[in-house]
Amino acid sequence: MPGLGCTDLEALRLHVGDCHRCPLGETRTRVVFGVGDAGARVMFIGEAPGKNEDLKGEPFVGAAGQLLNELLAHAGLKRHEVYIANVLKCRPPGNRDPEPVEIETCTPFLREQIRLIGPDVLVTLGNFATKFVLKTETGITRLHGTVHAAGRFTVLPIFHPAAAIYDRTKRDALFSDFEKLRELLGERLEGAAAQGGDQAVSAASLNASCELGEPLPGTAPGGAGPATGHTQPADDASPASDAQPAGDTQPRLF
Ligand code: URA
Repeated sequence: MPGLGCTDLEALRLHVGDCHRCPLGETRTRVVFGVGDAGARVMFIGEAPGKNEDLKGEPFVGAAGQLLNELLAHAGLKRHEVYIANVLKCRPPGNRDPEPVEIETCTPFLREQIRLIGPDVLVTLGNFATKFVLKTETGITRLHGTVHAAGRFTVLPIFHPAAAIYDRTKRDALFSDFEKLRELLGERLEGAAAQGGDQAVSAASLNASCELGEPLPGTAPGGAGPATGHTQPADDASPASDAQPAGDTQPRLF
């Protein structure tokens, strides 16, 4: 069975448990597993819990969360209709950046969440989530608002809401990128209707031949292609930088 083999999100939550697999387990208050609709069409991926999230056990409940709620409303979405998670499930002390070992330890749980939820669109908030999903070194300033494909997922990188709280330009960019999200979701619905209501996808969203785990053309370490606003199909056969070790036969999402 692919991934960790959990049958549903509750089984995964139990599997994560009172995690102490990395040192963050010693300093955090709560594991912040994720929240929302287990069958959501859109999944938002942030960086890591902050102070409020650590205390409450829920992602995006502080100032950045308030802005995220406004943005969701702007795209015609309700918080309970989407799923929200983070690259890390525990707060790094003082809100420092996630360490590579923490990302490596924690992201199998995020991959499993994505596999279980099976959203159409992954919205990556900021550099850490975008780098994890797209395997890119290109920064969010260049990538935000551009549409990519990773495996069967449409990916929309956007600025992290926390970075936009006191930055008018980023805030405006976020609202404009959420309009793009609304359009993308509309396209996917139209595509599904055109194909008889199946789990169809719009032509602009996927490349079924993409091996999960591969970087997208133009987004591999070394530089992204121009931010065209169009889907960048994932037809590059080059391996991801963190490709599976030989002998690991489990398919990877990315
Ligand atoms: N910032 C994040 O990246 N995630 C949260 O849950 C809160 C703030």
